[in-house]
Amino acid sequence: MTKPMLETKELTVRFGGHVAVNAVSCAFQPGTLTAIVGPNGAGKTTYFNLISGQLKASSGEVFLNGNSLAGMSPSARTRAGLGRAFQLTNLFPNLTVLENVRLAVQAARSGAHLRGLNLWSVWSDHKALTQLAEEVLAAVAMNDQQDTTVASLPHGDQRKLEVALLMALEPDVFMFDEPTAGMSHDEAPVILNLIRKLKDDKRKTILLVEHKMDVVRELADRIIVLHNGRLVADGEPAQVIASPVVQEAYLGVAPKDALAQDGTPPYPGLSPRGERGEKS
Ligand SMILES: Nc1ncnc2c1ncn2[C@@H]1O[C@H](COP(=O)(O)OP(=O)(O)OP(=O)(O)O)[C@@H](O)[C@H]1O
Ligand SMILES: [Mg+2]
Repeated sequence: MTKPMLETKELTVRFGGHVAVNAVSCAFQPGTLTAIVGPNGAGKTTYFNLISGQLKASSGEVFLNGNSLAGMSPSARTRAGLGRAFQLTNLFPNLTVLENVRLAVQAARSGAHLRGLNLWSVWSDHKALTQLAEEVLAAVAMNDQQDTTVASLPHGDQRKLEVALLMALEPDVFMFDEPTAGMSHDEAPVILNLIRKLKDDKRKTILLVEHKMDVVRELADRIIVLHNGRLVADGEPAQVIASPVVQEAYLGVAPKDALAQDGTPPYPGLSPRGERGEKS
């Protein structure tokens, strides 16, 4: 069995009396795309927030490449290889698209360039960084907007830029939370193509929260289902999509028995608690 790139163990967060993520144990392997599905309010975004460190867990732990991330800030987790799409509020709205991506590329490479002040290397780095930033923008078909300020970009382009920035950081783990939400029919395929390309890199671990089942069916190697904060199903896409909990959440078919008394799902063929950890 390959070592998981990312793993959560009994990850839990409570808001007052409400348990938004409830003892979720799950391992994610390099070279796999796992779709995380579940109804509104199931805890999907909260699960990402706990992994990225935006939210502090009430209990449980997150491991990246075998190392616990306990006590690490979101930016330390980013440096360690966890890639969460930038919130646009983290960008510099009055700088151009190119300048923002160049900063992200620079951040990704900082540490490799601790050479002291050498004007020649500063200049050549600047050129190389600009070229890299242009390549990243080309991947999201945004070269034409490179001189536009971020603040004046339309919504769909802002979302594409978020993905471009995430790619520039070259993380080991990519976390996409409804990456095409609010995008037009023309824009969504650009992002989906990018995710398809990322999948070809067998070193990358990709987590995708997505409501559109056609997208999930096409891209996912594995689906996990969150329901009321619990991981209730985990398996091959076809199996999970056919399961009562997904049928109920997406097609409005009521499940006979959503959860057994002990919290484990009664769905045959699906591993109950996400400890599958690898492609079968
Ligand atoms: N900071 C918070 N404080 C209090 N409650 C919260 C907080 N964040 C999330 N919640 C609650 O946790 C539950 C899970 O929310 P979450 O946003 O993770 O759901 P989701 O699965 O991402 O839903 P959606 O598909 O609508 O995006 C919800 O009941 C939500 O109201
Ligand atoms: Mg959400």
